[in-house]
Amino acid sequence: MQHSAIREILKVTQLPEVISFAGGLPAPELFPVARIAEATQRVLSTRGAPALQYSVTEGIPELRRWIAGRLNAQFGTAFTLDEVLVTTGSQQALDIYGRIMIDPGDFVVLENPSYLGAIQAFDAYQPEYLTVETDEAGIIPEALEEVLRKAPRRPKFLYLIPTFQNPTGRTLSAERRPKVVEICRRNEVPIFEDNPYGELAFSEKPPAPLIAHDGTGFVSYTGTASKIAAPGLRIGWMIVPEKTLRDKLIPAKQGSDLHTATLDQYILHELVTDGSFLEDHIALIRKTYGARRDVMLSALKEMMPEHVRFNHPAGGMFLWANVDPRIDTEELFKAAAAANVAFVPGRPFYPHNDRRDGMRLNFSNSDETKIRIGVERLATAIRNYGAGIS
Ligand SMILES: Cc1ncc(COP(=O)(O)O)c(C=O)c1O
Repeated sequence: MQHSAIREILKVTQLPEVISFAGGLPAPELFPVARIAEATQRVLSTRGAPALQYSVTEGIPELRRWIAGRLNAQFGTAFTLDEVLVTTGSQQALDIYGRIMIDPGDFVVLENPSYLGAIQAFDAYQPEYLTVETDEAGIIPEALEEVLRKAPRRPKFLYLIPTFQNPTGRTLSAERRPKVVEICRRNEVPIFEDNPYGELAFSEKPPAPLIAHDGTGFVSYTGTASKIAAPGLRIGWMIVPEKTLRDKLIPAKQGSDLHTATLDQYILHELVTDGSFLEDHIALIRKTYGARRDVMLSALKEMMPEHVRFNHPAGGMFLWANVDPRIDTEELFKAAAAANVAFVPGRPFYPHNDRRDGMRLNFSNSDETKIRIGVERLATAIRNYGAGIS
């Protein structure tokens, strides 16, 4: 995306009169501010200076043990703390994985559309992208097979967000998951799985992550505390069962920040091991976001012109809409901004920038009243902009 376009979006979303469906922000009113204050106090009074000291690059053992244990308890896996690397947000995991894996001109396979922040992180290492079509059940295995078969050289990896994807909110179906792993394994293309939203299911539990289908070190994984606690803590993690890869990632991280903030790691560990706090808190987030999704969906259904299609994500923070292909959503953005509502135009999420009719709508960061008013403004802007298209 042109920097000027990003600046334009940021400028608009910061105006108080604008209702923004553009950001990827969690609801700040749910941040557990008092619990984090208590946890901080406890860490400082019980641990004292070591909580403020330099620490090991891999992360504090207590937190790494908790990360492995949570995945093991949920999915019956058997990861150990040695396989866990704490990162400064999962964004750092994307950066260091890209740094280790990509040489200029290498191929990286992405679902289409994919997470803009991953494209930005990988771009620094100058790959070329091969894109695989997705439908409402996620990446299409036959399309993946075809892309890998036709690849001029073996791609370095496939990057996927299988659950409540950013930007589309889509989930790779349980039936497709083992197929995707099998196809990649057969073609010797490792998988990098990004799962920031897996805990945010509104009804049924989503299918197990791809890494739980593997057991051979072929899938590496990243998760984060950003969506279940607070993004300002900047705590993410990687699970990398393959030791040779881990041995490269650790020095890559060390070169970039020595280690993730010691105090933040202790605070997060204190928070997530505080009785039933985490389960209660995640339940509150699910309930709140689920209600916001419902309001957004019913407002879209009620107010949007016929040509606007949108999906029904089962969790996460986003839904995806397509307008009539004659409308360029970057142009539409300007009309919407003039009507005091913002979204993210779809084009930059497509690695080849080859589709212009999509838009990402965030429902986690506005309350239900604002969501209805925002959708009404957006529907009016689309009608006015696309006059003649029904
Ligand atoms: C798919 C995906 N991956 C990674 C990130 C980065 O998150 P963080 O660095 O806060 O863990 C985000 C943030 O929105 C995301 O949507």
